[in-house]
Amino acid sequence: MYRLLKTSGQARRGEFQTVHGTVQMPAFMNVATAGAIKGAVSALDLKQLKCQVQLCNTYHLHLRPGDETVKKLGGICRFTRWEGPVLTDSGGFQVFSLAKLRNIREEGVTFASHIDGRRIFMGPEESMRIQSNLGSTIAMAFDECIENPAEYAYTRNSCDRTARWLYRCKTELDKLKRQEGAVNPQQMLFGINQGSTYTDIRVDHMKKIRELNLDGYAIGGLAVGESAEEMYRVIEAVTPEMPADKPRYLMGVGTPVNILEAVRRGVDLFDCVMPSRNARHGHAFTWEGCRNLMNAKYELDDAPLDENCDCPCCRNFSRAYIHHLLKSKEMLGMRLCVLHNIYFYNTLLEKIRLALDEDCFDSFYRKNISVLGQRI
Ligand code: GUN
Ligand code: ZN
Repeated sequence: MYRLLKTSGQARRGEFQTVHGTVQMPAFMNVATAGAIKGAVSALDLKQLKCQVQLCNTYHLHLRPGDETVKKLGGICRFTRWEGPVLTDSGGFQVFSLAKLRNIREEGVTFASHIDGRRIFMGPEESMRIQSNLGSTIAMAFDECIENPAEYAYTRNSCDRTARWLYRCKTELDKLKRQEGAVNPQQMLFGINQGSTYTDIRVDHMKKIRELNLDGYAIGGLAVGESAEEMYRVIEAVTPEMPADKPRYLMGVGTPVNILEAVRRGVDLFDCVMPSRNARHGHAFTWEGCRNLMNAKYELDDAPLDENCDCPCCRNFSRAYIHHLLKSKEMLGMRLCVLHNIYFYNTLLEKIRLALDEDCFDSFYRKNISVLGQRI
């Protein structure tokens, strides 16, 4: 259940109720692909990092440890000891980005596992069965994430197929939820809008999928090679067609600037590997811009990573120490940067919510939009 609390232009402040707790929106989801945020971060850490929702991947958990195993261990929340909501991505994106030798047909996709090359078939029903076994709070529809640039005719046909897949997802998940022993009988389903950068296809596809009255809707197929300007143009075209009483999720996006721009265009929910991935290379997001802690200028810098941050890393350690740890390839160096970046993203979203609550989103946007993109 989504409740719209306030708006500022297209930007929305809302609350989303789930069986595993209420999510304050706009929100960022922390990416725990295989059940953990990369960089040795556990569910215990997430609590002090202001994390609201974890995102896990159907594709990875199906290959290892296997969704049947996760089900036997009580579902993905219980397995990872995370006491909040979990969204599982359908496998659609990973099959298209990670797996080799894929073959797409009406029934689904056959592909070779990136772990051992084993041939695997996944279609809408398989994806729903896996996500049902995982027992996530929110299951994502099985879709084709079209590569950029894509041909117009291919995009049309692909979107028609993704829409047919969505009907099959809904039918299958409704059936699975009623079965005895379902891990989460209240599991929700989000549909995914596709259409590459063709706004007419995007709008037609969105109109078609909103008929299903799902629990939420996502914009997929963005941040896959198009420019940021093109991405904003697509978001602007699609959000007015999205139901006002459902969460709007922009998949796989993005930088702090991308997030601020998308909130301004009416998006409520985000996920991205960027905070954890960049951190593992020593790239830190701060309120003054991006820093690279590998830089030699930090060798004798005793200040905290970000002077305006009260994360566990910034409260305790110096730039010089983190620089040394990264140089020495100590695991702690990566972990401290990951903790900071995750905290930074969740705090950014918290500040956005506060600005919306206090009717000052516009000035918050203007104050931060150029600073956040700087390299310092
Ligand atoms: N993650 C980022 N983009 C996408 C997308 O288009 N589809 C799915 N399923 N996941 C995504
Ligand atoms: Zn910090």
